[in-house]
Amino acid sequence: MSAVLEVINLKKSFGGLVVTSDVSLSMATGDRVALIGPNGAGKTTFVNLVTGALRPSSGEVRLRGETVTKVGPTGRVQRGLVRSFQVTRLFQDMTPAEHVGLAVLQRTGNSGRLFGNFLTRTEVMEEVDHLLEKLGLLPLAHRKVREIAYGQQRLLELAIALALKPSVLLLDEPAAGVPQSDTSRIEEALANLPSDLSVLMIEHDMDLVFRFARRVIVLAAGAVIFDGSPSDVTKDARVREAYLGSYAHASHVA
Ligand SMILES: Nc1ncnc2c1ncn2[C@@H]1O[C@H](COP(=O)(O)OP(=O)(O)OP(=O)(O)O)[C@@H](O)[C@H]1O
Ligand SMILES: [Mg+2]
Repeated sequence: MSAVLEVINLKKSFGGLVVTSDVSLSMATGDRVALIGPNGAGKTTFVNLVTGALRPSSGEVRLRGETVTKVGPTGRVQRGLVRSFQVTRLFQDMTPAEHVGLAVLQRTGNSGRLFGNFLTRTEVMEEVDHLLEKLGLLPLAHRKVREIAYGQQRLLELAIALALKPSVLLLDEPAAGVPQSDTSRIEEALANLPSDLSVLMIEHDMDLVFRFARRVIVLAAGAVIFDGSPSDVTKDARVREAYLGSYAHASHVA
């Protein structure tokens, strides 16, 4: 099967610091990939390069065969590449329905014209309600974001991402900052993502990684040191070594 996302020899330096060191990988339809690695390994930077938030020093990004290295973030979203952020970027005074509604309008190219009254448009609201319902957020549709729990805000981010109808979804620590008691709802939402969507998830919680991923990629000091099955990653000597310096317990990755 042809690749949905291809990253070829991607490099990025900040001054003298090499943060992305010749990274190549590809993802096919329906992939479930976990991108792991110690703090500062370059995981978020990699996502920023792939989405176009950052320009690479060299290398190439392709979406469904099209080179998008010079295409901006919005153009990549239009081509089906959508991300979520390590820390939520929601508007505190807006409601979940408004957030998801705007995302639907952005996708359909109506965001400028309809802002303000789209909540009265039936076809938009049907889609908004459907997405919020799927993520268990419908009862909160018209509350302000500041009034809902952080775990629910993270679910809302997923709803916004899905409203953009992605073919590739990059999730930067979707459960970060969420109390343990609420992570199961996020995990359930991840398990229910469309099966034809290619998902790459950055995550530190190894239990979540092992339940979610069918493939694990390990970044250390900007380079891919492992790309393979979840069962092999725990046995890999280089992976263990990379984690030893950053976690108190080497068993974290075992
Ligand atoms: N804009 C920037 N300018 C300079 N250095 C940067 C910049 N952004 C990131 N870095 C550096 O690049 C390295 C990788 O950072 P990045 O945020 O990608 O790591 P990460 O793997 O996402 O870490 P974490 O697990 O803590 O989220 C770090 O050393 C960081 O300090
Ligand atoms: Mg990060």
